[in-house]
Amino acid sequence: MKGKFIVIDGCDFTGKSTQIQKIASYLRNKNIKHITTREPGGTKFGEQIREIILESGKKLHPYTELLLFMSSRSEHIYGKIIPMLEQGISIICDRFLASSFVYQGVLHGVPSEVILSVHKTILNNFQPNLTFIMDMDPEIILQRMQAVEFKGCNAYDSTQLKEIAQIRNGFLEFTKIQECTIIDANQEQEKVFKVILEKINETFNIN
Ligand code: TYD
Repeated sequence: MKGKFIVIDGCDFTGKSTQIQKIASYLRNKNIKHITTREPGGTKFGEQIREIILESGKKLHPYTELLLFMSSRSEHIYGKIIPMLEQGISIICDRFLASSFVYQGVLHGVPSEVILSVHKTILNNFQPNLTFIMDMDPEIILQRMQAVEFKGCNAYDSTQLKEIAQIRNGFLEFTKIQECTIIDANQEQEKVFKVILEKINETFNIN
């Protein structure tokens, strides 16, 4: 496909949004057509599903939850991402399969084979050109969580250090089974972006 599909994934509070904005503004300066999007969400239907999931307060059966995330993803991929990539528009996406692997799998107990096989079956194993996993010390994540007011907090924002460590390890586990670039997000934003930029330049053939 003509466009590139770039994913940024990892725990909350690791600076994903900041890096997504930096990548977008870099591509804009290079006149590379792109959009930013997110999961769950990214389409009208996907955003509705996002509300249903996030308002459910973790009460859903893990399989129900998995299938809701996957139906949002299916609509996103077939209805938006593939058509845009075919037109040469690149996509920068906040979260993708790694999040299902970690939250529905590691955290809520859905076997990873089930998650991967649903992905393979319904999405024809559709893969990003690049997946960045933002990796950060759980203690720092916890400090960041505690430093903000929990205004926009939803039931998926975990506050326990143990759970944060579990999520972090889940993402690292994912990098062993799918091609990803682990980013040391403990560094300052500009340093993090420098590392991300190397991979972006390589992927977009920018010298
Ligand atoms: P997120 O996009 O991080 O936004 P917010 O800033 O509102 O927390 O929240 C989405 C939550 O959904 C996040 O905690 C991770 C979770 N999630 C899954 O459990 N499975 C998935 O497949 C995806 C994409 C997200």
